[in-house]
Amino acid sequence: MTDTTSTSKPFENTGYWAVILGGSSGFGLATAKRLSRAGMNILIGHKDTEGTVETVLKPHFDEIRAQGVKLVTHNTNLFDEDGRGEVFESIARNAGPGKVHLFMHSIAAGACKLLIEDKGPDFKGKAMAGLADALKKEGVAVTPEVLRKAVNEAFHGGGADALHTLADSRIPYRDTLLEEPDLQRTIGMMGYDYLLWGRELAKEGLLSRSARLVGLTSEGNTVSWKGYAAVSAAKCGLEACAKAMAVELGPLGVRCFILQPGITDTPAGNAIPNFDLMKAEARIRNPSRRLTTPEDVAEVVCAMCLPGFDWVNGAVIRVDGGEAVSGG
Ligand SMILES: NC(=O)c1ccc[n+]([C@@H]2O[C@H](COP(=O)([O-])OP(=O)(O)OC[C@H]3O[C@@H](n4cnc5c(N)ncnc54)[C@H](O)[C@@H]3O)[C@@H](O)[C@H]2O)c1
Repeated sequence: MTDTTSTSKPFENTGYWAVILGGSSGFGLATAKRLSRAGMNILIGHKDTEGTVETVLKPHFDEIRAQGVKLVTHNTNLFDEDGRGEVFESIARNAGPGKVHLFMHSIAAGACKLLIEDKGPDFKGKAMAGLADALKKEGVAVTPEVLRKAVNEAFHGGGADALHTLADSRIPYRDTLLEEPDLQRTIGMMGYDYLLWGRELAKEGLLSRSARLVGLTSEGNTVSWKGYAAVSAAKCGLEACAKAMAVELGPLGVRCFILQPGITDTPAGNAIPNFDLMKAEARIRNPSRRLTTPEDVAEVVCAMCLPGFDWVNGAVIRVDGGEAVSGG
C-alpha cells in the first residue's frame, strides 16, 4: 500500500470505503474519482436537481463504477434529519464495521451576505476620473464612463486579470443582509457538522483503524472578504473541531485534518460575491500563476489516505501552490 502512482490501486482488496458528503461537484467529486482509481469503494451524499443528475453527474458516476469499485449515491438534503438518517444507515449497511477509511465533508451551503449595506468609498470611480484626467493631458478625450466600460470589457472579455481592482464584479452582493438563521445554518453545516458525522461514525465502529476525517477550510479563516462572514466563522469553528477530534479520536487511530485549498473554480466558489475578481487576483498572486483545481486537492487526499501519512493529526494543511503565503 505504498505505490502512489496514478495507475496503481493501493486500496484494492482492502474493502475500504470513502464517504464523501458533497461528492457531486468540486473537491468532493474529484476526490471520489481519484479514490475510485486507487481502488476504494465510494459513497456520496449530495443535493442536485434530477436534471443535473441525469445530464451532468451520470457520466462521472459511470466513470467511477468503471474502475470496478462499488458506488452508492444519495441525492438528498443533508440539512434534513431524514436525509441524514438515510445516508448514515446506508454507510452502515454498505461499508459495515471498520471499513470507512476516508470521511470527507465537502458540502458548500453557506450564506454569503453582507452585515450592513455596502457604503465604502468609490475608489474605482475615483481611479477612472483620475485616469480620464491624465489622458486628457495627453490629448485623449475620454469620459470615466467610457473608461469603465473599456476596463470591464478587457477584464471580462479579454482576460486582463491585472484590472481586477478596477473591474466591476458580475457576482453582486445579495439583496438581503445576513440574519441570525443564516449564521446558524452556515456554522452548523460548514462548521461543526464534520464533527457530528465523524463522532457518529467512530461511535458506531464504522471507521477503519487508521481512518482519515477530512474537512475543507479556506483563506477566509484569516482574512475577511465582504459577504463571507458566516462562512469565515464556520471555517474557524471547523478547524477548532478538527483539533478537538484529533485529540479525542486519536487514541482510536483516527486522523483528523483540514485542507485549505487556494481559490478554485467551482459552483460554490462562483456564488461568492466578487469571486470573478478574486479568481483574477489569485491567478496573479499564485506562484504558479494559476488557480487550484479540484484534482490538485484530490491527489493530496488520496496520498494522505496512505500509511505514510499516519502521523498527521489535527493539522490545517494548505493545498494552494503557495497562494496564501504569496505577497504577489
Ligand atoms: N471553491 C473554492 O475556492 C474553495 C476554496 C477553499 C475551500 N472551499 C471549501 O470546499 C468545500 C467544497 O466546496 P466546492 O467549492 O467543492 O463546492 P461545490 O459547489 O463544487 O460542491 C458542493 C457540494 O455540496 C453539496 N451540497 C450543497 N448543499 C447540500 C445539502 N443541503 N445537502 C447535501 N449536499 C449538499 C452539492 O451537491 C455539491 O456536491 C466547501 O467547504 C468550501 O467552503 C472551497
